[in-house]
Amino acid sequence: MQMDCRGLPITTSSADAAKAIDLAIKSYMDYGTTAGAGIKTALEHDPACVLALCIRGYFFLMLENKALLPRVKQTLDEIKPHLGAATKREQLHVKALEAWAAGDIMGACARWEEILTESPLDLLALKLHHTMTFYTGRSQVMRSVAASVLGEWSDKAPEYGCVQGMYAYALEECGAYDEAERWGRQAVERNPGDLWALHSVAHVLEMQGRSKEGVKWLDYTPEQWAQKNPFKAHIWWHSALFMLAQGENDRALDLYDKSLCSVNSEQYVDVSNQAALLKRIELSGVDIGDRWKALAEHSEKRIHDHMLPFRDAHFSLALAAGGSFDAARKHVESMAAFSAQGDGWRAEATRDIVIPLCEGMIAYEAGDYDKATDLFWPLRNEMSIIGGSHAQRDLFAQIMCDAAVHSSRLPVARSLLSERVLSRGTRKQNWQDYAKVLAALGETERAEAARKQAGIAHESGA
Ligand SMILES: [Fe+2]
Repeated sequence: MQMDCRGLPITTSSADAAKAIDLAIKSYMDYGTTAGAGIKTALEHDPACVLALCIRGYFFLMLENKALLPRVKQTLDEIKPHLGAATKREQLHVKALEAWAAGDIMGACARWEEILTESPLDLLALKLHHTMTFYTGRSQVMRSVAASVLGEWSDKAPEYGCVQGMYAYALEECGAYDEAERWGRQAVERNPGDLWALHSVAHVLEMQGRSKEGVKWLDYTPEQWAQKNPFKAHIWWHSALFMLAQGENDRALDLYDKSLCSVNSEQYVDVSNQAALLKRIELSGVDIGDRWKALAEHSEKRIHDHMLPFRDAHFSLALAAGGSFDAARKHVESMAAFSAQGDGWRAEATRDIVIPLCEGMIAYEAGDYDKATDLFWPLRNEMSIIGGSHAQRDLFAQIMCDAAVHSSRLPVARSLLSERVLSRGTRKQNWQDYAKVLAALGETERAEAARKQAGIAHESGA
């Protein structure tokens, strides 16, 4: 038995294997590029190490690619003969891996919560729980669990800043912006290379319409982040959002080409961040050329994956916006078959929200704004179930507004924009659209008042 750097037991006789696991988890927390290699090293030192095998399985699943499921299954088979000798914590990790591999993300989260109750210093369990509660849209759970372990953490425990950064993000998603910013900035001070903590503060700036500060906060080049994994593209995505809000549309497009796309490879195309940014740039009135093509082509290869509802929504966005309507419809059919077969959160979120959302996006991109608005309207307050952040889901709110503004459903547009100017009143476009819709409905005075607000709003876009 060995101990990890936070004093938790690892079933292995190899000190080198335990050390390699520590380094792998550190790299994973730092969004570094050596986590996979670290686990490989641990398994070279001890091929029977249950925790190392389990982490290898987790890393496969994090890639969210259905083609990798057989390798997870193989890893679970390798674990079986050694499971009896493992600690309770390690056995729970294996149960979480089994649940996740079977698509039962809620079950996996429950196992990580079980681990954290007994072992609050299990940073891996906390991060995995944090990530998957994020992707299941459960902000309050994310906040509660991060808060529940914090009492046992202090700056004596390695990577304490990561816990501060996670708590900061959870607070932000729950709307506690001041507290979130305080925890996030403390975490960044502790470790300036902690992209998640940096990102937590960026979310606060985004939600509070502080785009000028945001551009400065996230001023990092591909060279500075050469040793960071593809999550860095999401930070650049935030940076581009701040630029768009500052009216720097060309700079945002340049960032798309030079930074966001720098993480693409033969096997991996960053569809979610890229599609979500391209659509926003397009909504800002910029000609984005043929940039949808690569995203639509890659998305078409993934239409039967259904690893996460959030990904499916973005594959559909790329297909519809790229004009690949046949593939987009096939994707919807595939989601319908998938959700009919299963139960649980993924099937429910896909059936109730993602399918009508994607059908709405197909109608919207085909110019059928009435149909799109009718499909979107019942979804408008139910979107958190597809996961992701408020900032990410805000794109769908923008698309819903744009569809309604161009439709004949003007009272729906008025209603959506009345809400939007309260939540995003710093953005000119929202007031301009509101004024246009009010004028079309004959509400002249209120239209004039909205026009004045557009004149003083300090951010561009919607
Ligand atoms: Fe984010």
